[in-house]
Amino acid sequence: MSRRDKLFEPYRQVKYILKFDIYIMKNIIKIQLGQNGPLVSKLGLGCMRMSSVWGGSIPDERESIATIHGALDSGINFLNTGDFYGAGHNEMLIGKAIKERRDDAFISVKFGAIFHNGRPVGMDLRPIAIKNFINYSLTRLGIETIDLYQPCRIDNSVPVEEIIGTIADLIKEGKVRHIGVSEITADQLRKANSIHPISALEIGYSLADRQIENELLPTAKELGIAIVAFANTAEGLLTGEMKAPLAEKDYRNHFSRFQGENLINNLEKVEVLKQLASNKGCTPTQVAIAWVKEQGAHMMSLVSMSRRSRLPENIAAMDIVFTTEEMNTLNTTFTIGAIAGGTYLQR
Ligand SMILES: NC(=O)c1ccc[n+]([C@@H]2O[C@H](COP(=O)([O-])OP(=O)(O)OC[C@H]3O[C@@H](n4cnc5c(N)ncnc54)[C@H](OP(=O)(O)O)[C@@H]3O)[C@@H](O)[C@H]2O)c1
Repeated sequence: MSRRDKLFEPYRQVKYILKFDIYIMKNIIKIQLGQNGPLVSKLGLGCMRMSSVWGGSIPDERESIATIHGALDSGINFLNTGDFYGAGHNEMLIGKAIKERRDDAFISVKFGAIFHNGRPVGMDLRPIAIKNFINYSLTRLGIETIDLYQPCRIDNSVPVEEIIGTIADLIKEGKVRHIGVSEITADQLRKANSIHPISALEIGYSLADRQIENELLPTAKELGIAIVAFANTAEGLLTGEMKAPLAEKDYRNHFSRFQGENLINNLEKVEVLKQLASNKGCTPTQVAIAWVKEQGAHMMSLVSMSRRSRLPENIAAMDIVFTTEEMNTLNTTFTIGAIAGGTYLQR
C-alpha cells in the first residue's frame, strides 16, 4: 500500500461503513395500505409529540424537523399527524420539513377532534366541517393532496356513510388520495369499507393492549385493511424506564394503569420483557416495537420520535425476530387482560 493509500485507508473504511448503514436503513421493509394501495414504510413516524397537544411547552422545532429529515433519509416515508395536534402547529411543522421533498413523504392526517385550551371538548364530523378542515390542513402542510385522510374517531353524531362519503368526494376533488379510519369498532369498519375502500386502520396496539385481537384485527385482515399500530410502548410502560410511583405532575397519573397497585403489578410484567430484551442484546422498547411489527405483513409500527437519537434504535427494531420460545414468553406474560387498569384507550 502506498503512503497516500495508507493515509486515506481509515477514511475509506468510515465511508464504506456509512454507505453500508445508509443502504441498510434505506431498505426499511414496506407494507401495502389496503388492497393494491400505496407502499409505505413498516415503521411510521408519529409526529404528535413534536407539538403541545395537551398543553405545555413545544419541543425544540429544529430538532423535530431534523428528526423528520432523518426519518425520510432513512427510508421512513409515513408521517402521521392530526389537524388538532397543537391546533395546527404539527401540520405547519411537517409542512416546513417536507417543503423541498414532498415526494419523499406519505402524509397521514386525522381530523374531527375539537380542543380548547389543551383539552378535548368534543368532535365535529359534519360534512360541512370536514370540507372546511381539509382546506386548512392543505394550506398548513403546503401541499395539494393529503395521502391518507381519516376521522380520528367515529361517534354517533353523524352517520358513518356521510363521513366516508364526504372524504370520497374529496378524493374526486383531488384533495385526498386514500381513506383511513382510527379507533373504531369492527362493525363501523365494515360499514365504512362498504361505502369506500378503507386503506388503513390506525389503532392503539401493543403487548399491553391486545383486546383488538378478538374481533377488530381479524375483520381488518379479512377486508384487506392495513393496521397502523400506535402506542407500541403503551405510554412508555414498555420502555423499561418507568418507576413507581410516577412523578406528581406526570400526565399518566390520570390513567388507572399507572396508579398504585396496578402500576406495581404492571411493572412486574415489564421485568420479564426487560430480561428477554437483555438476553437478546436489545432494549425493551425494541422488543415492544418488534413484537408489534411481527404481528403480520399488514402491520405498521407507528412510533413517536421527537429527537434524532431515537431513530437508530427504533429502525434497528425492524430487524428483530423472535424464537418460538421468546414469542410464547411474551404472549403468555402479556396475555389479554394481564396489564391492570386502563389508559385513554378504553375498549
Ligand atoms: N389515532 C389515535 O387516536 C392516536 C392516539 C395517539 C397517538 N397517535 C399517533 O401515534 C403516534 C405514536 O403514539 P404514542 O406517542 O402515543 O406512542 P409511542 O410511539 O409508544 O411513544 C411514546 C413515547 O415513547 C418514546 N420513545 C420512542 N422511542 C423510544 C425509545 N427507543 N426508547 C424510549 N422511549 C422511546 C417517545 O419519546 P420522544 O417523543 O421523546 O422521542 C414517546 O414519548 C403519535 O405520534 C401519533 O401520531 C394516534
